[in-house]
Amino acid sequence: MATCLHYLLVGFLIAITLSIDAASAGITRRYKFDIQLKNITRLCKTKSIVTVNGKFPGPKVTAREGDNLQIKVVNHVSNNISIHWHGIRQLRSGWADGPSYVTQCPIQTRQSYVYNFMVTGQRGTLWWHAHIQWMRATVYGPLIILPKLHQPYPFPKPYKQVPIIFGEWFNADPQTVLQQALQTGGGPNASDAHTFNGLPGPLYNCSTKDTYKLTVKPGKTYLLRLINAALDDELFFTIANHTLTVVEADASYVKPFQTNIVLLGPGQTTNVLLKTKPINPNATFYMLARTYFTGQGVIDNTTVAGILKYQLKPTSNHFNSSKNLPIIKPSLPPINSTSYAANFTKMFRSLANSRFPANVPKTVDKKFFFTVGLGTNPCPKNQTCQGPTNTTKFAASINNVSFILPNKTSLLQAYFSGMSKRVFSTDFPSAPVFPFNYTGLPPNNTNVSKGTKLVVLKYNTTVELVLQGTSILGIEAHPVHLHGFNFYVVGQGFGNFDPTRDPKQYNLVDPVERNTINVPSGGWVAIRFLADNPGVWLMHCHIEIHLSWGLSMAWVVLDGDLPNQMILPPPSDFPKC
Ligand code: C2O
Repeated sequence: MATCLHYLLVGFLIAITLSIDAASAGITRRYKFDIQLKNITRLCKTKSIVTVNGKFPGPKVTAREGDNLQIKVVNHVSNNISIHWHGIRQLRSGWADGPSYVTQCPIQTRQSYVYNFMVTGQRGTLWWHAHIQWMRATVYGPLIILPKLHQPYPFPKPYKQVPIIFGEWFNADPQTVLQQALQTGGGPNASDAHTFNGLPGPLYNCSTKDTYKLTVKPGKTYLLRLINAALDDELFFTIANHTLTVVEADASYVKPFQTNIVLLGPGQTTNVLLKTKPINPNATFYMLARTYFTGQGVIDNTTVAGILKYQLKPTSNHFNSSKNLPIIKPSLPPINSTSYAANFTKMFRSLANSRFPANVPKTVDKKFFFTVGLGTNPCPKNQTCQGPTNTTKFAASINNVSFILPNKTSLLQAYFSGMSKRVFSTDFPSAPVFPFNYTGLPPNNTNVSKGTKLVVLKYNTTVELVLQGTSILGIEAHPVHLHGFNFYVVGQGFGNFDPTRDPKQYNLVDPVERNTINVPSGGWVAIRFLADNPGVWLMHCHIEIHLSWGLSMAWVVLDGDLPNQMILPPPSDFPKC
């Protein structure tokens, strides 16, 4: 009798748990991405660009936390393509992560592939982009994860939410710009414009009609979902006469703080609340974005402008005419404002409350120290190069290893099939082989080594990684992105990292959780993460030319012992190499 009751009770409990799960279980949302050419006119020039569904920027993908996303990508263009869901953790579903030759071979012309993954334990603003060469110049769009049904934001409910995706526009074909840079060894030609939602705005030639306009009502709170999809440029963003409240970064909530100027490196996202004026101010306001850059080469220093305007009452005489209103212009910090960048970055703290705890690893199993920066390759014989000297080409590296991708298979396939020996080695250095004064006088020999070297981590390893910028060919910020994980930013500083002094200052209480962090120009940043996601995960600078020059590496995270700690098998429509 007692046992019988016991079973009843257990059965009852299971039933309750199941129904709770069912209530919070997500749905499947399907999208179709047709990769196709489209004629677009910008800056008085018409050209054919690669798009998703003929849209530029591409379509917005929306899901709720807990949903399953299935996005069928069909390639109708001559270029190979793959799509990365930037910031999605891809728990056990690394096959859907998207970087070409890392987790898959690209989708070839007339082929298709369904990216199938769960959105688990995340909500906020992310984005998607092509992940092969420079295809992401035009192939990108927002990826919005709403909280589960009936779950509130940890901030006042916004009246409306608006994605603003920053881009970089090239009059030339971005693929040609890349090929030319790699051929000559020089820095790439700068882009011709920055854009808000694909629009450069009135500060460029014949672009007044291509201006992003945000029309708001007085006395409301808007959630702006800012995404920096620019190829190479970190951007300052501001709106004249309006203060912004930062509430989220890289789809993790942060302790709200106010600012007039937001900085985003390529790859980063930031949600800000915009509280509009209580009454119509009878003015329009510029929103501007411009580059933050401390490096040496040429850079696009033009400014994208959008317009914030207040809706006029239908009763007003000037219905629908804001033309005569004054335009208020904001100011932005100088292009090389590293101190502004550093102070701004330090403002980010995670909520670290019971609902959104900061699960920062308190103990560390493995420590790594990686230098990130530029370097050189020798110029081939019989060629004059346009690198830092005419006998060198620009390169970039982590711990002096300039990463080479395989071209006949992907790293994940090689690992999963047990054939990795011919494709990559597992001896990526955990610290520089030849230490030097990283932010002091650079060494005479700036040549990088090349290789396909990875780090292997056991399942559930806690990792601490210090990313140290170098002064080789000039100090510069590097927005480093880690696939497959969020990490906690426990410390940062200028100059060389000091392993005895600096860890004492680490923030292990409420460090911000991100997927992309700026390594400060001439400084370092320390991050921690838990390697709880089996697969092969790329880590790279999200400045596209630095990635093209080799500023990347990859981690292999081994399966755990339990069935739910193992990577799933590849799907049946997985692209052929
Ligand atoms: Cu958003 Cu590997 O990139």
